[in-house]
Amino acid sequence: MTDVAALRARNAVFWAQAAPGWITYADWQDELGRPLGAAALDWLRPQPGDRVLDVGCGCGGATAELARAVAPSGSAVGLDIAAAMVAAAQARFAGPGLRFLTGDIETLDRVSGAPFDAVHSRMALMLFADPVAGLTTIRRSLRAGGRLAATVFRDGGVNPWLPAAMLGAAPFLGALPPLPIGDEPGPFAFADPVRVSRLLTAAGFSDVAVVAQDVTLQAPNDPEAVAAWLIEIGPAGAAYRAAHPSAQKSARAGAVRLLERFRPAGTDYRLPAGCWLITATSPEPAPEDRI
Ligand SMILES: C[S@@+](CC[C@H](N)C(=O)[O-])C[C@H]1O[C@@H](n2cnc3c(N)ncnc32)[C@H](O)[C@@H]1O
Repeated sequence: MTDVAALRARNAVFWAQAAPGWITYADWQDELGRPLGAAALDWLRPQPGDRVLDVGCGCGGATAELARAVAPSGSAVGLDIAAAMVAAAQARFAGPGLRFLTGDIETLDRVSGAPFDAVHSRMALMLFADPVAGLTTIRRSLRAGGRLAATVFRDGGVNPWLPAAMLGAAPFLGALPPLPIGDEPGPFAFADPVRVSRLLTAAGFSDVAVVAQDVTLQAPNDPEAVAAWLIEIGPAGAAYRAAHPSAQKSARAGAVRLLERFRPAGTDYRLPAGCWLITATSPEPAPEDRI
């Protein structure tokens, strides 16, 4: 099994290489990817005046949405390990209560701006090399009684479209990053709800709940564009961007073929996504304060 330092370094490299794809498709992510995080936003119900943190904020769409909900007196901080995505978020959104920071949540003691009333995260917690370290930073960054709401993918069986673009594109591209083994960081590392509850409890959270959410992402009836989007934001993205245009074309065609089953009767794409909504509370008093 790879050690935590190596996994952490691999995670940083992966997201630095993935950033150009996420930046190109930032608007699509905000719009088409919104259902993936809607349950967490609904559960948190951020109120004007709240101080909120968005962990793994990517190009900042959900953080900006949180900032609008807590305005005018509240504040929202988006944190991401990928400096280029944080720069993109800063360029895309600005406002008095909105801030974006670059950092690895696992290696921080607390996130600047703590204590927060609430922490939000969309599709990021399962990417931590040391989940207990990352979740502990999140818990320490909350005020006592502060709440966490996050979404993550369940397993590959309920998210069959997710590997399709990579598998369709891979034969035409250069080397891809290593695929995760076992509990290593990756899209399905939080598939087991018992493990997820155990990790949150180990990080000092109380009132931990892990509830299934099934959503459908709708994408336009434009096979080439949808294939390019899903290749660019996935593990094949960097190899795709480095490839010759003719190889890129073949890669898109390969992805289109595997994604065809998610375009019922030639209409828009319907991508079924099986997620967990993870909710938890930072206990009062915080574990560090207990005698
Ligand atoms: C799947 S993307 C989701 C981005 C955004 N939340 C969204 O839904 O559009 C996961 C994000 O988590 C970030 N991330 C991964 N590991 C992280 C860590 N240890 N600390 C902070 N951010 C991290 C990545 O850089 C990436 O932007």
